[in-house]
Amino acid sequence: MAKLFIKQAKQYAETRPDYPKQLFDFIASKTHTHDLAWDVGTGSGQAAQSLAGIYKNVIATDTSLKQLEFAPKLPNIRYEQTPPVLSMAELEQLAPQGSLDLVTIAQALHWVDTRSFYEQVKWVLKKPHGIIAAWCYTNARVNDSVDSVFDRFYTVDSYPYWEPARRLVEKEYRSIDFPFEAVDGADDTGPFEFVTEKMMDLEDWFAYIRSWSAYQTAKEKGVELLNSHVVGEFEVAWNQSGDGHKAVKFPMFLRIGKVGKF
Ligand SMILES: C[S@@+](CC[C@H](N)C(=O)[O-])C[C@H]1O[C@@H](n2cnc3c(N)ncnc32)[C@H](O)[C@@H]1O
Repeated sequence: MAKLFIKQAKQYAETRPDYPKQLFDFIASKTHTHDLAWDVGTGSGQAAQSLAGIYKNVIATDTSLKQLEFAPKLPNIRYEQTPPVLSMAELEQLAPQGSLDLVTIAQALHWVDTRSFYEQVKWVLKKPHGIIAAWCYTNARVNDSVDSVFDRFYTVDSYPYWEPARRLVEKEYRSIDFPFEAVDGADDTGPFEFVTEKMMDLEDWFAYIRSWSAYQTAKEKGVELLNSHVVGEFEVAWNQSGDGHKAVKFPMFLRIGKVGKF
């Protein structure tokens, strides 16, 4: 699964949304100190760069070196390529036991083996207040005409090419295993809802679709999801209203919990 993000790393960096300040303010308000955070599956650093403005140091890891190449280089972010599952020795090299205030994993929890990942998260977080924050965003929303073309394209054309793990995103991470305690001030571990937005023109929109793992999988099977018929439908829908640049909204769903005494 990890290899699905290699080929379209450039499109990924250019077209995926960054995350809103409210999300990071909320997460940061739940960690008692702001020394060290680890962003897992960092991709091109979408979350890592915001964390770097709040935490003294950030470790940002991804299985794909190609993705990391497009991530912003900041003095307090240490990027590392990692295997899909870290050994305990590799984890120790990354950060000492009980050293992290925060682990984040943005739009990537559904790609990892959660059983071993959670054990390692619990080992590496500060006890009892260390926090894990995992979020996903669901399908982009533009306006009625684009959304109706998109919904058919997603549920019919692209559907066979998504990994089964994608269903966890469709369910807004409500069904994902998340064995952590509610953070201070919360009754449960969520999901808490946010929204992020990205301005796109039609070319950005197509590049966003090309950044999907499903687009890549279809291509490897000889299927061009953005064939001339689909491109035509999107062109008509996109140009039906006003400006070529549109605010594309992505509903976000955050699971957040603390490690507790463990
Ligand atoms: C959908 S992207 C999310 C990237 C970024 N966090 C974001 O918010 O846009 C998923 C990322 O997880 C990485 N990935 C997949 N499996 C992984 C694993 N087992 N460990 C670490 N990273 C992984 C992929 O290479 C890819 O960059």
